[in-house]
Amino acid sequence: MQKIDLPRNHFVVIKEKLMNFLTNENNFVTNASNFTSLIFHYFDSVSWAGFYFLSNNNLVLGPYQGKIACVRIPISDGVCGSSVRGKRTIIVPDVHKFPGYIPCDPTANSEMVVPVLYQKKVIGVFDLDSPIYNRFTETESKFVSELLELLINNSKVEPVIQYYEAVG
Ligand code: SME
Repeated sequence: MQKIDLPRNHFVVIKEKLMNFLTNENNFVTNASNFTSLIFHYFDSVSWAGFYFLSNNNLVLGPYQGKIACVRIPISDGVCGSSVRGKRTIIVPDVHKFPGYIPCDPTANSEMVVPVLYQKKVIGVFDLDSPIYNRFTETESKFVSELLELLINNSKVEPVIQYYEAVG
C-alpha cells in the first residue's frame, strides 16, 4: 500500500498558483475549471479530478480533468452521494470495497470526495480518483478543503448554484 503526502512546500506552491488566478478572475465556472487543472497536474497519481454540483437531489457533472465521467449521481448513491449526505470528506482506500461505489473511471482504485460548501451549505463535491490504492491522506483532504474555500470565497458562486437548480 502506498500513501503519498505531498511535502509542505508543494502545498505552498499549489496555493500560490491558485491565488494567482483567483486574484484576477471571479467567474466561478472559469475558476473551477482552472482549479481542476491545478489539482490534476500538481497532485501525484490522480487520474480524475472534478466537480459535481447539486441539482435538487442529484449531483450533476461540472468542470473536470480526466476521462469522460458519469453525468448524474443521485445523492443516495456512490462515494459522492455519501459525502453530500454526511456533509464530510470521504477517503476510500480501496474503491472495490466501498458499498455502492459508482465506477466512472475504470482505472480508479482509490478515491477522495470533499464536499464543496457555500454559506455552510453543501453545493456539490470535489472528487479525486487514483489508480493507486490508499492514495489519499487526511492531510491532503484538509488541504483540498482549504483550497476549495479559497475558490468559493473568491468567485461569484450564486448564479451557478441557481443555474444548476434551474436546469435540473
Ligand atoms: N466514483 C464516484 C463517481 C464519480 S467518478 O469517480 C468521477 C462515486 O462512487 O460516487
